[in-house]
Amino acid sequence: MYLGANWKMNLFRNEAISLYSEIVKLGTTNNNCELIVFPSIIHLSELTAVDPKHLGSQNHAESEGFGAFTGEVSLQQIRDIGISTVLIGHSERRELFHENNEVIKTKLSHALNMGFHVVFCCGEGEIDRRNGTYLDFVSSQIKHAFSNISKEMMQNVVIAYEPIWSIGTGNTANNDQIEEMHSFIRKQINDMYSINTANQIRIIYGGSCNANNAASIFSIQDVDGGLIGGASLKLDSFAKIIEAACSHTLK
Ligand code: PGA
Repeated sequence: MYLGANWKMNLFRNEAISLYSEIVKLGTTNNNCELIVFPSIIHLSELTAVDPKHLGSQNHAESEGFGAFTGEVSLQQIRDIGISTVLIGHSERRELFHENNEVIKTKLSHALNMGFHVVFCCGEGEIDRRNGTYLDFVSSQIKHAFSNISKEMMQNVVIAYEPIWSIGTGNTANNDQIEEMHSFIRKQINDMYSINTANQIRIIYGGSCNANNAASIFSIQDVDGGLIGGASLKLDSFAKIIEAACSHTLK
């Protein structure tokens, strides 16, 4: 199982250090679960002193090197502090920061070319869900992002399916909806690459996953873990989610 904690723009420095330290202790006692925490970028460097292995960056600049990009952080700078995982394509970046499919494709190909592991997010909004066009929508997000990504590079990719209508709303997708989309995504990877790539890739679910529903979601066919926002900000709820993930065999 693969578990990501997306802290978004939350927590003070001391809170981040203490929560991350506790999470690392829980995560490293069980080998069945790969655990990556995405804190605010400002805390990344300091948290590497606790343990760099379980950290990822929520964002990076579209441009890979240095340059005149005020306020941005580059992949080279992220790698320089010992971080090897990045999150790309989150719906909040797409919607609030206007990252379209083209920007996401560039960020993805730079990160994979530099040897990063990537958690790539996709997912439809409420209108596509209601109109029945949600499979097409997610399919086009994936086709666009991965159009110039090789089969070898796919070994470093985890896909997070996150329906926008379920993120932070408490309105979790139901098990049938999750199963349908995850098996669809796996089939799409099979069509674009190979059966081996499709079988190996981890497809995780995000969107109001919490301590009460995690075990049920993780037991769904084709679900290989979760990307957790709100419920990863409190140790008691995230500890229960880690426990639910760790009781499954490694994928
Ligand atoms: P949520 O967020 O768990 O708070 O719904 C998930 C995410 O945005 O990755």
